[in-house]
Amino acid sequence: MADQKPTIAVIGGTGALGSGLAQRWASAGYDIIIGSRSAENAEKKAAEMSGGSIRGLENGDAAAAADIVVLTVPFGTHQAMLEAVRDGAQGKVLVDATVPLVPPKVARVQLPPAGSAAKAAQEFLGDGVKVVSAFQNVAADLLQDPNAKIDCDVLVCGNSRAARQSAVDLAEAAGLIAWHAGSIDNSAAAEALTSILIFINRNDLDHAGIRITGEPKA
Ligand SMILES: NC(=O)c1ccc[n+]([C@@H]2O[C@H](COP(=O)([O-])OP(=O)(O)OC[C@H]3O[C@@H](n4cnc5c(N)ncnc54)[C@H](OP(=O)(O)O)[C@@H]3O)[C@@H](O)[C@H]2O)c1
Repeated sequence: MADQKPTIAVIGGTGALGSGLAQRWASAGYDIIIGSRSAENAEKKAAEMSGGSIRGLENGDAAAAADIVVLTVPFGTHQAMLEAVRDGAQGKVLVDATVPLVPPKVARVQLPPAGSAAKAAQEFLGDGVKVVSAFQNVAADLLQDPNAKIDCDVLVCGNSRAARQSAVDLAEAAGLIAWHAGSIDNSAAAEALTSILIFINRNDLDHAGIRITGEPKA
């Protein structure tokens, strides 16, 4: 079928960001697999959600069963989760939402030696996986509220335009505006912005976000 939607595995889909995205995609008609370190917890979370086909699997099985893999886990467990999904993600697009926050100073930019979490993911997973990064700047609690107006654009970085488009499509399905933002090297900028937004949230605003402005090309 021409408009068949891909099946999405959300690794860490029991968590704040992953469950918010998964619910929005389920409502938009995507088949969803919630991934967790525990298959039982994944199934439990899937049962709480509403919409089309939503099931739960252990993370590695979830990645293997999906067309697109979305990674929504804390930076402290990023490498372990990459190892868990490496085999299952081969030949697929992996959308990485990880922000390399290093507690307690999460309002300071502390990028990893590879340059960014997403660049590290691409280097670890190899060319067989098309890594794109997205969603680092969007608040999970807003995603979880189906009625929330989310005043924050999504920057999508990755080396393959077609893979980036997959993430742009997913962002739009979740009710967001998304932009092709260049190669995976550019993910450093998107990931770093999150610490700036956290700092602004502490002092001046709730739900600080980013907007790309400009005039449409003729
Ligand atoms: N929260 C936000 O507003 C937000 C916004 C943009 C980006 N992000 C980024 O998205 C990622 C996920 O954020 P989140 O707030 O959704 O995280 P979270 O709720 O704390 O955790 C997400 C899931 O990761 C799994 N996990 C695997 N290993 C873990 C470990 N060692 N310790 C704790 N959890 C572990 C857990 O699932 P199981 O226990 O089921 O395995 C958990 O439900 C982070 O990189 C974050 O920086 C978050």
